[in-house]
Amino acid sequence: MTVLYPVTQRSRAITLADTRIGGRLNTAVRRSFALFDNLLKSAPLDSKSHRQDHSLRLLNNIPVICHQGFDTRLLEVAIALHDIGVFYSQAMDHGRESAFRIRPYLVNEVGVTPDEADKICSMIRSHHEYEWPSDNSPEAIALRVLDCLDAFGVIGVYRFLEVYDRRGLQPTEALPKAIASLEQRRQVIIDSWFHPDDLAIIEARYQEARGILTETRMDLDASRPRVIISLKGIDWDLSRLPELFDTGLPTYANSFFHRLHSALLNSACSL
Ligand SMILES: [Fe+2]
Ligand SMILES: [Fe+2]
Repeated sequence: MTVLYPVTQRSRAITLADTRIGGRLNTAVRRSFALFDNLLKSAPLDSKSHRQDHSLRLLNNIPVICHQGFDTRLLEVAIALHDIGVFYSQAMDHGRESAFRIRPYLVNEVGVTPDEADKICSMIRSHHEYEWPSDNSPEAIALRVLDCLDAFGVIGVYRFLEVYDRRGLQPTEALPKAIASLEQRRQVIIDSWFHPDDLAIIEARYQEARGILTETRMDLDASRPRVIISLKGIDWDLSRLPELFDTGLPTYANSFFHRLHSALLNSACSL
């Protein structure tokens, strides 16, 4: 088994997606991303916030989890494939759809055993089951926690707004819902195990996301959801984010776009 991350001997210099993972992916994960790409080609839906950079950030953050003894290889495969269901279903809990789509290919294309394939699917099915998880194995908990973590910070705010817009929620409904979901995900994280040194960073990223969402809500109270309108204007395509810089938007909106751009550059991931 290839373990990429020194979970028990982690370097404190590496924390929360500060490194690039490109070039360090093992064979099973590379095959998983190839499967993701293939399934994406025939998928009827799109989501700019659930592309491979999301999974790469989760992979980068595995060292945040300080639990010893989980099967890192299975966790990595599950991370790479957990959100493919988003591209096939608008259902809020797309974990079952993801598992259904990948199960026929896991053994032959990723190279795991049938038992491992079942475990991976079980982890993926439960990745949004926050209250009554059907899988509470260490790997399943790790997937849930890492996924929740990517809802924090400026990138998390962008992801919330993209998801709710794609589901057709009006901003008046989306913003309070995002703030509530942020709180729920925070609870999932603090109920789980972490390296103590990371807790302050996690809390800061939670507060950062909450602050931006609250400011965006104030924007909405003024009947001008300019942050959301602007992001829709670039079709949620973050490669076009610089088009929104310094275009006369309120200071907090301009600041959000610049911070988002900077965070994406810092966590840039390539396969
Ligand atoms: Fe998901
Ligand atoms: Fe996810």
